[in-house]
Amino acid sequence: MKTILITGGAGYIGSHTAVELVAAGYQVVVVDNLSNADTTCLKGAEKITGRSLPFYEIDCCCKEDLQTVFKKHPIDGVIHFAAFKAVGESVEKPLMYYKNNLTSFLTVLEVLLENGGGNIVFSSSATVYGQPDILPATEDTPRGVATNPYGNTKQICEDILTDAVKAHPTLQGIILRYFNPIGAHPSALMGELPRGVPNNLVPFITQTAAGVRDVLQIFGSDYNTPDGTALRDYIDVNDLARAHVSALQKMYTKNDPGSCEIYNVGTGQPLSVLELVQKFCAVNNIKVKYKMAGRRQGDVEAVWANTSLANKHLQWKAEVPVEETLARAWAWEKKIRDL
Ligand code: UD1
Repeated sequence: MKTILITGGAGYIGSHTAVELVAAGYQVVVVDNLSNADTTCLKGAEKITGRSLPFYEIDCCCKEDLQTVFKKHPIDGVIHFAAFKAVGESVEKPLMYYKNNLTSFLTVLEVLLENGGGNIVFSSSATVYGQPDILPATEDTPRGVATNPYGNTKQICEDILTDAVKAHPTLQGIILRYFNPIGAHPSALMGELPRGVPNNLVPFITQTAAGVRDVLQIFGSDYNTPDGTALRDYIDVNDLARAHVSALQKMYTKNDPGSCEIYNVGTGQPLSVLELVQKFCAVNNIKVKYKMAGRRQGDVEAVWANTSLANKHLQWKAEVPVEETLARAWAWEKKIRDL
């Protein structure tokens, strides 16, 4: 049985991935410094899997701490989520973002190599494309110029992994470029737990529905899109979690050290901000007060994925209908608010 280290495993995507890995027969070890998470989702993951998941509250930037985990567990592979991810904050605190996101990834790679290497999945983002000229975006779509330090750390880490696998034949990598992950576990035991005012759309919608926020602002109604609001590719977090399992399985089956492949993880279906809000209201039979507002700085007009490569080579595809995802997001919000 393979043992997979999940860095940032207490977080939103990490905890869902832990559940899918256990379901697929992997052992998981979780590390997280809890800088942007508490143990709610991890406890949820334990309840769902019926397992106690080894957890270390450590910072991946600390090599000694990471070494201890590798000494205790026979780590065969890593999924690296541990990173700061707020675009606006990265503009205000660029050094903090570069230091944390780059150091943690470099340290994980160093320690993995020192322990004989293995397979690694890096959590990247569609943000690397910027605004593509041609849509949907394929993995060959040129990366754009990063408009913020967060996006730049994703690009740099992609380059670090690409170079590292070339130089170190004991490493094999897959980069997953996530589009817009949303939703929660069907059990409502895990979901997104943003701190403070949510930056992302769906937590803002669910908090507005719950009465925590007064009104949702729709950022931009004059885009060159059918209804004037921006287009995105919203991927269910459980589907996204399964993509990590597929990526690992691909690497273990193919066993091609020295390779680093890149896959888009999305649904391939664009939805506008307005459509998403309307679907949320319809499926949950609830009103969400919203108003049109100016464009948010740094936003692109439209981006969605061509997912053919992941469909073919990872034998993975998005399955959960967006209505179901939005129902789960609301069930989770109600649960954590005791509504
Ligand atoms: C954002 C990040 C992206 C990151 C991803 C991770 C930016 C510019 N991009 O993607 O780099 O990888 O999160 O989850 O922040 N919206 C509203 N009102 C709101 C919130 C959002 O109208 O209160 C709109 C946005 O303007 C955008 C869409 O909803 O058009 C989606 O926004 P969001 O959920 O923040 O994701 P992205 O911006 O696409």
